[in-house]
Amino acid sequence: MQRRQLLKNSAFAMLSFSMARDLMGAPLSTVDRSSLSNNTGTIILRANENPHGPSPLARVAMQEAVAISNRYQWDMNGLLRERIGALTNHSREHITLGAGSSELLGLVCLWASYQKGHVLASEPTFKLWMPAARKMGLATQLIPLTASKHNDLDRMLASINGDTRLVYLCNPNNPTGTAHDRQTLEKFIAQACKSCIVLVDEAYTDYYDTASLANLINQHPNLIIAKTFSKVYGMAGARVGYLLAQPAMIKTLNELQAWANAGPSAVSMRGALAAMDDHTFVAFCKAENHKAKEIFCNGLAELKIPFIPSVTSFVYFDGAAYSKPVPSFLQSHQILGARSFEENSTWLRLSVGTSAEMKRVVEVLKMGR
Ligand SMILES: Cc1ncc(COP(=O)(O)O)c(C=O)c1O
Repeated sequence: MQRRQLLKNSAFAMLSFSMARDLMGAPLSTVDRSSLSNNTGTIILRANENPHGPSPLARVAMQEAVAISNRYQWDMNGLLRERIGALTNHSREHITLGAGSSELLGLVCLWASYQKGHVLASEPTFKLWMPAARKMGLATQLIPLTASKHNDLDRMLASINGDTRLVYLCNPNNPTGTAHDRQTLEKFIAQACKSCIVLVDEAYTDYYDTASLANLINQHPNLIIAKTFSKVYGMAGARVGYLLAQPAMIKTLNELQAWANAGPSAVSMRGALAAMDDHTFVAFCKAENHKAKEIFCNGLAELKIPFIPSVTSFVYFDGAAYSKPVPSFLQSHQILGARSFEENSTWLRLSVGTSAEMKRVVEVLKMGR
C-alpha cells in the first residue's frame, strides 16, 4: 500500500476510534454510528476534541511505530518522559504517563482515598473521575462557581478542613472556559497545599498563551499538575496524558500501579514525541481555534445569546435566550454536542470545531430563531 493511502486509512481509523465513545462516559447509543463519518456532514462538537489533529508528523510517526509494536518500549517511555520534563526543566522522575490524563486523575484519587475524607472541587467542573473517587471512599464537596462562572477560589480555600484530602482545580475550567491569572493561582496553591494534595488540571492551557504552573511543583511537595496530548496536540483517541510532581510524589503514585507508565502504546508514544516537534501544527491549531471560536461567539452575540468568553476549545452559553431547545434543534441538523452540565440550568457547552463547522452552527441557529 502506498504511504499516502496508509496515512489516510490510519487517520480515518483514529477519527472513528475517538468518536466511538463519548469522553464523558456515555456511549453514543442515541446516534446512528454509520452517520459518524466525515462524508455525511455530521458535525461532532461534544468532547472538546481537536478537529485538525493528529499533526502530520504524528500521523507518520504513529504509522511507522506499528511495526515495533511487538516489543515493550521501555526506552521510548523514558525518552517521552525526558522530553516532557525538559519543557519545564524537570527530569523524567518528575513525570508519570497514563493512557490519557483521566486515568491519572483517578490514580491521584486512589492515593488520596487511602486516608478517608473528601475531595473539594467546583460545580460544575470536569467530573469524569468523580464516580470512581466516591467508590474509593472520597466524598465530594462541590463549591458553586462565582456569578462570572469562575472557580470560587476564596470559597474553596475557606472550605478546606481537616477532612479535605484533595483539591481538584480545573484551570481553565471545563465546561465554562474561564481561567485565573497566575498570581491568583500561585496564592491559592500556596495556601491549599499546606494541608492537602492539590491537583491542577491544565488540559486546556496550551490553547492560550500562558505558562504551565509546573515550575511550582519545586516548592510544593503536595502539588500535582495534570496535562494531556488530547487537546491542542489533537491526539484524544491515542490516549497519552501525564502528571508532573516531585519525584517522591510520582514514586508513591507509581507504586499504586502494577506497571507504572505502561498505559500509552508504542504507537501513541511515538505520536506524542512527534507531536511535540510539530510546532507549526500546534500554532495552526491555536490560530484556527481562535478564528472558529470568534465566528461562534460573534454569532451568539448577534443572536443575543449570553456566553462566557473562553480561553479553551469550547464555549459556555445560555440556551434560555434561544427560541427552541438548542441541543435537540442542533441535533436535528446533524450538529451533535450541545449539552448541559449543571442541574436545573439553561447553560450549555459546545466544543469549537473548524471555522466551517462553526459557521454552519451559526447559520443553523439563525435559521431557527
Ligand atoms: C479538564 C479535562 N481534564 C482531563 C480531560 C481528559 O483528557 P484525556 O483523558 O483525554 O487526557 C479532559 C477531557 O475532555 C478535560 O476536559
